[in-house]
Amino acid sequence: MSPEQPATADWYRHFGTFDAPGNSECYARWAVGIADDTELIRRIDRWPYSKRQPLLVLAAARYLGAQISPYREFRQFLDEHWDDVSRVVLSRSTQTNEAGRCATLLPSLAGIAAAEGRPLALIEVGASAGLALFPDRYGYEFRASAGDFGESPGAATTLSPAGAEPGTFPVLGCTTTGPVPLPAELPRVVWRAGIDLHPLDIRDPDDVAWLQALIWPEQEFRRERLRQAIAIARAEPPVLVAGDLNEELLALVAQAPPDAALVVFHSAVMAYLDAGARERFRGTMAGLAAHRRCHWLSNEGHTVVIQADGSSVVPEMDDARLQGRFLLLHNGDPVAITGPHGQSLEWLQLPTS
Ligand SMILES: C[S@@+](CC[C@H](N)C(=O)[O-])C[C@H]1O[C@@H](n2cnc3c(N)ncnc32)[C@H](O)[C@@H]1O
Repeated sequence: MSPEQPATADWYRHFGTFDAPGNSECYARWAVGIADDTELIRRIDRWPYSKRQPLLVLAAARYLGAQISPYREFRQFLDEHWDDVSRVVLSRSTQTNEAGRCATLLPSLAGIAAAEGRPLALIEVGASAGLALFPDRYGYEFRASAGDFGESPGAATTLSPAGAEPGTFPVLGCTTTGPVPLPAELPRVVWRAGIDLHPLDIRDPDDVAWLQALIWPEQEFRRERLRQAIAIARAEPPVLVAGDLNEELLALVAQAPPDAALVVFHSAVMAYLDAGARERFRGTMAGLAAHRRCHWLSNEGHTVVIQADGSSVVPEMDDARLQGRFLLLHNGDPVAITGPHGQSLEWLQLPTS
C-alpha cells in the first residue's frame, strides 16, 4: 500500500459516511458495518488494492442477490456466498454506465453542432456499454433551480427525439443553475463509437445484470432509465472497441466521417488512469484539436479510485468547490459543474475580458 492509499476500513467508512448517505441508506449502513468488521476487512485485504473498492464489493453482493437489509443479514449473506463474491469482485470492475450524463453533455454537444453547422460524430473513451453515445435518442427535462437568473422557479425546458413515441425513450431530468445554453432541438448524430478496456454488451444478459447491480439499491428510477436506454441501444448496438483509450483512439478517429463535427468525450474515466496516462491522453487530444478540428468534452470528478501517485484528476478546480460533482471542460476550458449522474448542471460564469 502506498502512503496515499487509505486503509481499507477507512475507505469503507468514508464511503459509508460521505459518499453513500443521501444516495443509498443501505450502502451507507453496509459500508460502515464493513468498516467496523475486522474479520471481513482482513478477507477484503487479501484482494489486490483496486479490488477492495467499496462500490465493487457491494455491487458484487447485489449482483448475487443481496437484498436491502440490516448489516447483520448482509454479513450473513456474504458468509454464505463468499466464494462467489470473491469470483465476481476479481472478474468484474466498476463500469457504471449512466445515460443520465447525456443531460449535462447535451448543451455542449448542441453548441458544437450549431457552431460547426454540421451533424456530430461521437467517440466516447471509457464507454462501458456505450449508453452515453445516444444523446440524440433520449428525452430531456431541464428545470431551472428556483430564483435563478430571472427564470420562474422550476420552469422546465423539455426536448424529445424527433418522431419517437413518448414512453419509448428515457427522459433525463436535470436541474440547471446559471445561463445554461439550452438548445431548441436535439443535435443530429451521424456516427458513434466507443472504446473501453472491457466493453459491456447490452445484448448479453450477464453484462446487463452487472450494469443493474452497479446502480445503488434505492435508486429504482436509475434502473428504469437503464432499461429504457438499453432498449434504445439494442436497436442499433454501438461500435465498441476493446482496448486502452490511449492505444485505440487515433485508429478510431481515422474511421469517423470527415464531414461531421468530431467530438471525443468521457465521463468518470480519467480517475482510472494514472497521471502519466492522463498526460498522454491530453497530448493526443491537443494534436486532434490542431490537426482534425476535433472537440473534446471532459466530464470528470476529482478522484474516484484513489491513484497510487496521489494526483488529482481535475486540477482546474478544487474539491471544495466541486463538492463531489464533476467538472465539465470543453477543449480544456471549464464550462460547467455537473451532477455525477447528470442530475444537475451549473453553468460557469466566465470572466468577461
Ligand atoms: C465508471 S465507468 C464510466 C462509463 C461511462 N463513461 C459513463 O459515463 O457511463 C468507467 C469506464 O472506463 C473504462 N476504462 C477505465 N480505464 C480505461 C482505459 N485506460 N481505456 C479504456 N477504458 C477505460 C472502464 O472499463 C469503465 O467501463
